[in-house]
Amino acid sequence: MKNQRLSRRQMIGTTAASGMVFPMLAAAQAGARAGENTGPTTSTPEDRERRMKWWHEARFGMFIHFGLYSVLGRHEWAMELEGIPVDEYQKLAEQFNPKPHAARAWAKLAKSAGMKYMVMTTKHHEGFCLFNTKLTDYCAPKHAAGRDLVAEFVEAARAEGMHFGFYYSLMDWHHPDGARCKSDEAARRRFVDYIHGQVRELCSNYGKLDVLWYDVNWPLTPEGWESEKMNRMVRQLQPDILINNRSGIPEDFTTPEQRIQASAAPWEACMTMNDSWGYQSGDDNWKSPKTVVRNLLTCTRDGGNYLLNIGPRGDGSIPEPSVQILTSVGQWTAPNRDLISNADRCQVKRSQSALFTRRGNILYAHIYFWNGPTFSIGGLQNKVLSAKFYPSGKPVTFEQEQFRVKFTNLPAQAPDPIATVIAIECDGEPAQDQLLIRTNRKRESV
Ligand code: GLC
Repeated sequence: MKNQRLSRRQMIGTTAASGMVFPMLAAAQAGARAGENTGPTTSTPEDRERRMKWWHEARFGMFIHFGLYSVLGRHEWAMELEGIPVDEYQKLAEQFNPKPHAARAWAKLAKSAGMKYMVMTTKHHEGFCLFNTKLTDYCAPKHAAGRDLVAEFVEAARAEGMHFGFYYSLMDWHHPDGARCKSDEAARRRFVDYIHGQVRELCSNYGKLDVLWYDVNWPLTPEGWESEKMNRMVRQLQPDILINNRSGIPEDFTTPEQRIQASAAPWEACMTMNDSWGYQSGDDNWKSPKTVVRNLLTCTRDGGNYLLNIGPRGDGSIPEPSVQILTSVGQWTAPNRDLISNADRCQVKRSQSALFTRRGNILYAHIYFWNGPTFSIGGLQNKVLSAKFYPSGKPVTFEQEQFRVKFTNLPAQAPDPIATVIAIECDGEPAQDQLLIRTNRKRESV
């Protein structure tokens, strides 16, 4: 098969079509195989830095999983996990008719939570397209909804000043060629043309698009998908776009899922608010607002982004627990948002009651478990020059010893029950010696 013939040549960075050598592609693919992100692939590091500036500052985004599975309410994988026949499943298209402009409430909630961008599923694995496409009738405008839900999403995001992106699943459980493309070259050709055609539509019909968020590239290799060609087309249509790594080549950022995993290259941890992406009516395993804020702070500390999901119901309404959680999160982010946007990577990590972020020489302690009148940091390598509550600027008294900085006279109750922030001005870039105390603290003689 052509895929296999191509892949050996591409491993050494040569494309069959041109015979040209792309050392960057070869290196990127080697990196992808080793599980690293050495990208970009269809761009340059300099251009990536330019394109990603807003995204690094944004830091916090909303993921939205919305599709026919939202009507079922049993998670977006129900079609496959329950073995639902295609002709039974596709009848959901006659029930899926969200209230007009449901996305406006999503965008308002995202904004109030302190999020700066939104990424919505335009086609999930089920194959149903929320956008108007000339390439299939299996799309919202040609069924009960009778309108382009991606256009509504875009309008809503723009109205709230949000950047926005499109999630697009390469894997497709509905398209007749979606599985047989692996072993049938004619099917692969048709299917890849279909996928590239839809990506072209998404990149052509909605004005400026900020992010293209591919998902699951089963059952083909990047060569089989012709991912490099596809992404070159995307960049031609959308010169400022950011592309994730799930078309099988690294591109602009990695996407650790349900975990926070820092890497040297740009990264974005995507996470659910309960245990499901698509609406799952029985899932009550919600994260607390404090957990969400802690996750956001961990991403900030380690230089990454946090994409937090909502799974609206079939009518477009947001499950009440998600509204409550994000509303509380927003009360925390409102005064602290600047610390999230303007943060440098922070080396200080050790504490069981606080997370740390940094800007220049200022260390911010975000104390999420409040123990009353004192709070201490061990092993800080810097001299502390001043300490103040943030954002009020109210001074905090402190004492510094060889191994400990101790903040004193703190209120008995946490000033902010989610996380109270103390800005600690240091005489240099804040650093903590992780082993200093264990190794060097004077032991009593026996
Ligand atoms: C996984 C799942 C999918 C979900 C995605 C989000 O790939 O298959 O359902 O959309 O993760 O990252």
